[in-house]
Amino acid sequence: MLFFKHFFITYLFMEISASRVLELSDRFSSIRQEGGYWLVKFYAPWCGYCKRLEPVWAHVAQALYRSNIRVGRVDCSRFPNIAAEFKINGFPTIKFITPDQDHTFHGDQNKEDILNFAFRMAGPPVQEITSSESLSRIKGVNQLFFMYVGRQDDNLWTSYLDVASKMQPHGFFYFAKEEIAKQHVDMDEVPAVFVYKDGLHTFYSEDVDYDAEQNHEQNSSMYKWINEERFDTFPKITKGNINEIIKTNKYIVIAVVEENKLQQIPPEMLEFRETVESLIRRKKDKYHKYFQFGWVGSPDIANSIAMQVLPLPSLVVLNSTTGHFHIPEDKPLQMPVDVIDLFLDRVFNQTAPVYGGNGLTIRYYRTYFEITTALANMWRGNPTLTSVLVGLPFSFLCFILYSICCTDILDAEDEEEDPHEKRD
Ligand SMILES: *[C@@H]1O[C@H](CO)[C@@H](O)[C@H](O)[C@H]1NC(C)=O
Ligand SMILES: *[C@@H]1O[C@H](CO)[C@@H](O)[C@H](O)[C@H]1NC(C)=O
Ligand SMILES: *[C@@H]1O[C@H](CO)[C@@H](O)[C@H](O)[C@H]1NC(C)=O
Repeated sequence: MLFFKHFFITYLFMEISASRVLELSDRFSSIRQEGGYWLVKFYAPWCGYCKRLEPVWAHVAQALYRSNIRVGRVDCSRFPNIAAEFKINGFPTIKFITPDQDHTFHGDQNKEDILNFAFRMAGPPVQEITSSESLSRIKGVNQLFFMYVGRQDDNLWTSYLDVASKMQPHGFFYFAKEEIAKQHVDMDEVPAVFVYKDGLHTFYSEDVDYDAEQNHEQNSSMYKWINEERFDTFPKITKGNINEIIKTNKYIVIAVVEENKLQQIPPEMLEFRETVESLIRRKKDKYHKYFQFGWVGSPDIANSIAMQVLPLPSLVVLNSTTGHFHIPEDKPLQMPVDVIDLFLDRVFNQTAPVYGGNGLTIRYYRTYFEITTALANMWRGNPTLTSVLVGLPFSFLCFILYSICCTDILDAEDEEEDPHEKRD
């Protein structure tokens, strides 16, 4: 398969060359109409996250150099028309663009995830696996994917294809004939759909008791199931993927630790993270339906959810439908596995203390918290720049900070009013 050949070549020859990135201008609107696939980064020169993405982007461009996907970038401060045309509202934004469609990348901005996204978008929504060996190979490189087994003339196939087309930016969807799938997994009936995750095949079953009172079509129950299953059991949560993870509508349980620049984690935090992970792996059946676990390597996401500077390590549980959150009373380091387990029970039966929410006051306060924290970080990084910026009109400052923060966690909206008025 071309995809894999490409994949390995990419890893063997990691030479860096920024010049592989095409510099795009206002003319891109018409160039795009000429056809082909584009992977484009929309950035602004002053945005810190954009600078961090630069070397990654050079690697991405190098990896796609001989493919049918062209890699470019648009400086939105010079070409605001293009930014407006693609409705860019944060930097950096990565889009896969065809003559008539564009899809935004929502994952973590690392080379592998960006490349996977590009390869997925350049192919059909569902790719066929034609041999048992290629299925083995896919299991080797993809930790999580969905697969349909059977003939393509069934209602189940129609729903699967429909969901796969909508979810193409977010996950891998395959199909295979029964003979091929049976060499990997025991199957009682065909057609069937399964998710491959943590080395296990979990089958979709239509009569899962999704809101029995609401008469769901097969179509939407498939959508719901795929939406719930599309994350690893214990993924790293980042600004890129948190908004997608929130869409699972589960309780989001976040182990908060801090990585240093080399992505190392201090031993006591690592131990805590491992405790949490061991619990969910052991009690997967109990939690998996209503809880999505994950960990963050930089506390700002969790601080922004909890609207306070959390001690490290911490445990935060976010109710993704209401925006409420829960924090255990005990210090996380002193919480053995069964105490964490009890705490999650109490979150689930709604006896654990509740904080926050999506009310207006809370949203104002969250915006205020994010802005002051971002300002404090900026000040530490560059006092001169910060004082210049603070001299600028407030709405403009909001815009800059918004772009620095890049995502609007929990839809905390940019308000033009002075947040200091909202502190009371
Ligand atoms: C599936 O649901 C979508 C809306 O989410 C609808 O547009 C589509 O027609 C449905 N497909 C089938 C096969 O029911
Ligand atoms: C969130 O809170 C609401 C209201 O208290 C509750 O109905 C719901 O089950 C909670 N959990 C999730 C995951 O939404
Ligand atoms: C909630 O769960 C906790 C922990 O399992 C338990 O002690 C408590 O009795 C439960 N409360 C209710 C109202 O079910």
